[in-house]
Amino acid sequence: MLLSASPLHRLGWLWLWVLHSLGQPPPAAGKEVDVARYRERVKSMFYHAYDNYLENAFPYDELRPLTCDGQDTWGSFSLTLIDALDTLLILGNVSEFQRVVSVLQEGVNFDIDVNASVFETNIRVVGGLLSAHLLSKKAGVEVEAGWPCSGPLLRMAEDAARKLLPAFQTPTGMPYGTVNLLHGVNPGETPITCTAGIGTFIVEFATLSHLTGDPIFEDVARKALKTLWKNRSDIGLVGNHVDVVTAKWVAQDAGIGAGVDSYFEYLVKGAILLQDEELMSMFLDYNKAISNYTKFDDWYLWVQMYKGTVSMPVFQSLEAYWPGLQSLIGDIDSAMRTFLNYYTVWKQFGGLPEFYNIPQGYTVEKREGYPLRPELIESAMYLYRATQDPTLLELGRDVVESIEKISKVECGFATVKYFS
Ligand SMILES: *[C@@H]1O[C@H](CO)[C@@H](O)[C@H](O)[C@H]1NC(C)=O
Ligand SMILES: *[C@@H]1O[C@H](CO)[C@@H](O)[C@H](O)[C@H]1NC(C)=O
Ligand SMILES: *[C@@H]1O[C@H](CO)[C@@H](O)[C@H](O)[C@H]1NC(C)=O
Ligand SMILES: *[C@@H]1O[C@H](CO)[C@@H](O)[C@H](O)[C@H]1NC(C)=O
Repeated sequence: MLLSASPLHRLGWLWLWVLHSLGQPPPAAGKEVDVARYRERVKSMFYHAYDNYLENAFPYDELRPLTCDGQDTWGSFSLTLIDALDTLLILGNVSEFQRVVSVLQEGVNFDIDVNASVFETNIRVVGGLLSAHLLSKKAGVEVEAGWPCSGPLLRMAEDAARKLLPAFQTPTGMPYGTVNLLHGVNPGETPITCTAGIGTFIVEFATLSHLTGDPIFEDVARKALKTLWKNRSDIGLVGNHVDVVTAKWVAQDAGIGAGVDSYFEYLVKGAILLQDEELMSMFLDYNKAISNYTKFDDWYLWVQMYKGTVSMPVFQSLEAYWPGLQSLIGDIDSAMRTFLNYYTVWKQFGGLPEFYNIPQGYTVEKREGYPLRPELIESAMYLYRATQDPTLLELGRDVVESIEKISKVECGFATVKYFS
């Protein structure tokens, strides 16, 4: 069963997985996966999605693959084109990349009356533009004088990020979740933001500050991180939603998934990018509390942030980034065991349902869908680079086969509503 949505950007990790697996020695033993053949398959999957977007949906944000038309989702800035920029470079399509950069330069304007998600605009628009900007030279694009501190994509990223800054003007430094790109924070805007919506800026914002010389971006991102850190519970956990004006926790479920996930991811990736020991030590402290209170048999559950009592014995597909993160801090054995737990869920359904009740061994009602999320694939990629364990290539193969089988339609790839 398919839903009409166009998760082209989510397939990004799939392209990365196959491409990064190239140049690695062949798997030592077991059923060999023909990486070169899968590489070509994945390329043609990308073009199936991308060409259908151009033909049927541009200049809207996203393609609706079941109705073969387009819609605006996170703004109205042809988001899929921004999402696809770095993938075009990774696939070596420099001419198409250059064409798209011109189209974006002419067509995209952030001075618009749109209520935008601060989080989504950062990770997709600012992050997409910055990664394409930084990759462009290595990919063979001719860059302008002064690069990497100058360039059309950097200017667009800075424009977009400036539109987000009013959201950070709160008594705590934690941002509102929504901002109007033209008018700033709307009067009466809810002060409740999820933890990930507060702690997922440092990678893009510090990069932007370093490239532009304006410290404001890194400063606001760091201040928001510091407030979250100060407001962790006395057993060392953070909850799911907080009031950014009063700093009171309004949803007190602590876990590694939805609402929190990329806060932890950005502490680790920010620490690596900036060689910042303070960010890493924050993460390592969280990691201790998370292992102590939420980890059982290499699964991670949800617990009450002050008491540590289990509130939800559920694995969410968004949590599948965690083994990759553990591999980045060198905890390979634990990462691999957790990854294998998650891979059994993939094998049970031929994909990852949004929620999986661990003791019951089945999906959770109304959360049976699979919106082609990339997290498990990202973990497989990191773990493969660390271990070259052939099981990880098998996951990659299973993902390609499943997505083609259950999600491919004439106009692209659609969200799977449930597994049948
Ligand atoms: C680059 O992308 C465009 C648009 O999909 C396509 O027409 C062209 O063949 C691609 N070029 C290469 C070298 O893959
Ligand atoms: C943005 O949100 C505000 C407050 O909810 C609302 O009044 C306004 O109409 C919205 N603007 C747009 C363009 O949707
Ligand atoms: C939460 O953070 C705010 C802002 O940094 C701080 O004033 C407050 O003391 C913190 N609350 C707790 C319980 O630590
Ligand atoms: C682990 O949990 C126990 C209570 O179950 C607690 O006493 C101990 O301090 C915790 N350790 C860490 C590192 O969180």
